[in-house]
Amino acid sequence: MKILITGGAGFIGSHIVRLFANKYPSYQILTLDALTYAGNLENLADVLALPNHRFIKGDITDGVFISALFAAEAPDAVIHLAAESHVDRSIEDPLTFVHTNVLGTVHLLRAARALWQNPNDGTYAAAGRNLFYHVSTDEVYGSLPLEVPPDSSSKFTESSPYAPHSPYSASKAAADHFVRAWAATYDLPVKISNCSNNYGPYQFPEKLIPLALDRLRRGLKVPVYGTGKNVRDWLYVGDHADAVDVVFHEGREGETYNIGGGEEWANLELVKVLCGVFDEVVGARAGGSEVVVDVEGRIEFVEDRKGHDLRYAVDCGKIRGELGWSPKVGFREGLKKTVEWYVANEGWPERVTSGEYKEYYERQYGVRG
Ligand code: NAD
Ligand code: TYD
Repeated sequence: MKILITGGAGFIGSHIVRLFANKYPSYQILTLDALTYAGNLENLADVLALPNHRFIKGDITDGVFISALFAAEAPDAVIHLAAESHVDRSIEDPLTFVHTNVLGTVHLLRAARALWQNPNDGTYAAAGRNLFYHVSTDEVYGSLPLEVPPDSSSKFTESSPYAPHSPYSASKAAADHFVRAWAATYDLPVKISNCSNNYGPYQFPEKLIPLALDRLRRGLKVPVYGTGKNVRDWLYVGDHADAVDVVFHEGREGETYNIGGGEEWANLELVKVLCGVFDEVVGARAGGSEVVVDVEGRIEFVEDRKGHDLRYAVDCGKIRGELGWSPKVGFREGLKKTVEWYVANEGWPERVTSGEYKEYYERQYGVRG
């Protein structure tokens, strides 16, 4: 089995590549990544030497390149993660999101069909092996109200209507629709999973948790948008990789599976807990010295994000009931593992942030400290 994993040098992609390359030594794993500001080969340093893994630098928005790549490499299956992934950037520059997330996905769908489908009778030669798996987001479902009873009817299910709000989520929703269109129109074997907010090692320091950790490390305040009451459902990235493994191998073709952590946290509460875990980890490394948690002084409220979705929460009943998956890493345990990784790898954010990202960062947050 040869699997092309797009976006494998990014945060979630690197965990999926690592899992598949190590767990399935008989598979050939091809990582395709353009190494944009968010992609870094350092994220795959331990995987690059594995005999069943190869890295290819390339852009999914280049249709000629993608067609040639599929013809030359003939992957049996695709796990597609390559995307522009940050909501704030999509508000500044929506076209790049349409280009990468929508057009890039369509180039991959066209190339997969051209490779796998017999043009004479429309059959798929390697039925059961060919699969186009789109890794998507719960943000396609839009926003839930903050004040709701905590039962599962107040969460996103696979049948919740699509109602994306940000240019990012609109572009991912469009990509999901194109994947389904290729299934309905051309019988392409597809699966989609829609996952909640991930956190863990190797997350680019633009998203809330790694940005907060990078700023805490440098003695800077953590910016909290608006009131800090917006809620996200957090999942440890290793649990997401396990879920993708399960859906890839055991999920039903043509189906969608929601994936979430069942850990709903208001941003302000999350940042407070994170400050505490950060102090614990740093204190323990310094020989268990007394930890002084001055939380309030380390947070600053900043202008709210435009169109800021209030609450995301995912009902995982389908993947749990059908495939037996549920998250293994609790929130505090996951945060501790994450903080320990960022503290032990304190040079990583500086190394992976390119000049282009630094310019963006300075526009958003002022000059780096
Ligand atoms: P990321 O930004 O860390 O990584 C994206 C990767 O895609 C990078 O390595 C980048 O170089 C690559 N890429 C971007 N444009 C490309 C192009 N034109 N051609 C080839 N490669 C390109 O993102 P992430 O957080 O790891 O998210 C990965 C996927 O998972 C995305 O599709 C995202 O929508 C989805 N997702 C993310 C989350 C989350 O919490 N981060 C949650 C649910 C779903
Ligand atoms: P983010 O990590 O960008 O993920 P997403 O927008 O996809 O949910 O943001 C998570 C939440 O944290 C979101 O409600 C916006 C908020 N946030 C802040 O309050 N401050 C920040 O500096 C960032 C990056 C996000």
